[in-house]
Amino acid sequence: MKKIALFDAKPYDRFYFDRAARESYKLKYIESKLTAETAVLAKGCDAACAFVNDVIDAQAIDTLCALGIKILAMRCAGYSNVDIHSAYGRLTVVRVPAYSPYAVAEHAMALLLCLNRKVHKAYNRTRDFNFSLSGLTGVDLHGKTAGVIGTGKIGRAFIDICRGMGMNLLAYDPYPIENADFMYVPLTDLLTRSDVISLHCPLTEQSYHILNREAFSKMKKGAIIINTSRGQLIDSQALLDALENETVRGAGLDVYEEEADFFFEDKSDTGVRDNTLALLVSRPNVILTSHQAFLTEEALTNIAQTTLENLDCFFSGDWLPNEVCYRCSDAKDKENCRKKQLERCF
Ligand code: NAI
Repeated sequence: MKKIALFDAKPYDRFYFDRAARESYKLKYIESKLTAETAVLAKGCDAACAFVNDVIDAQAIDTLCALGIKILAMRCAGYSNVDIHSAYGRLTVVRVPAYSPYAVAEHAMALLLCLNRKVHKAYNRTRDFNFSLSGLTGVDLHGKTAGVIGTGKIGRAFIDICRGMGMNLLAYDPYPIENADFMYVPLTDLLTRSDVISLHCPLTEQSYHILNREAFSKMKKGAIIINTSRGQLIDSQALLDALENETVRGAGLDVYEEEADFFFEDKSDTGVRDNTLALLVSRPNVILTSHQAFLTEEALTNIAQTTLENLDCFFSGDWLPNEVCYRCSDAKDKENCRKKQLERCF
């Protein structure tokens, strides 16, 4: 029986992994995030399993390797928190590339609708028997233009929802899909022409702070920003300034640049020492959710199943469809990855 150290384990992880686990796995649930300091808790295990805000740097990888662990199963799509250079050749990294694009796209639309129609304000008012409508005016989204940055699985699911609402669509993606039934435009055009801008691209060197001060300065006055991808796609201080000078009418954020220190944890009794975060949450035209866009029953079921299937493939020596390495992840180095010949990256 293989033993899996599942870091950053929350009650919902336990529920869905216990349900999906077969007899071949023993799951060791560890509340701490996987970091250089906590990696040692995987002692005696055959695999480590981690999530989006764990910090799997070279030191954490060294410790996992010293413990004899050969595979890191990310139970998420993104892996920008894994030093895949350091892992190459000694620690196989697998991920769950898609668990429910609909979950994330629907949450992006939930943020947009809530923000635009000020449902969060109305909810608080009516609980206090305040039935005034003053200050609750929104706009029709029908006929407005949604600019979608990143047209992968989630971006396209979001596009479909926007289309259903009668919105016009513009998209930007350095790797456009062929025969798209929406229009690709350069990023600057998208910024200047969109009423709503929704981020659906991964965090890379190229996309870091894709919405920076310069980008905000190009936007249509009154644009709404939605980010369900990664916090570092937005320069938060520049966003605060754009909210202040009303270039941006509202922001729906499921992610935040420095979220790793706070998200997924209850900080209600200690508060947070992060002025930017405090300023963002204090604004009535910002809705912040703590990286919950994926959180549906369907997505959690798929995450548990695919993670265990990835481990099945690894331990049985089969081809690993969901393996990642710095070579096969980099368009320029793709050809050097040995996955095609070896059926694995190394
Ligand atoms: P995907 O890999 O299917 O699509 C990503 C798209 O972004 C691709 O079409 C790619 O060409 C494009 N892209 C890459 N670099 C870009 C750039 N610089 N500018 C514009 N587009 C660029 O990924 P998927 O499944 O659609 O996920 C998108 C992102 O959503 C993930 O990278 C992750 O950060 C985030 N995510 C958030 C979750 C949440 O709970 N909040 C859950 C799952 C994913």
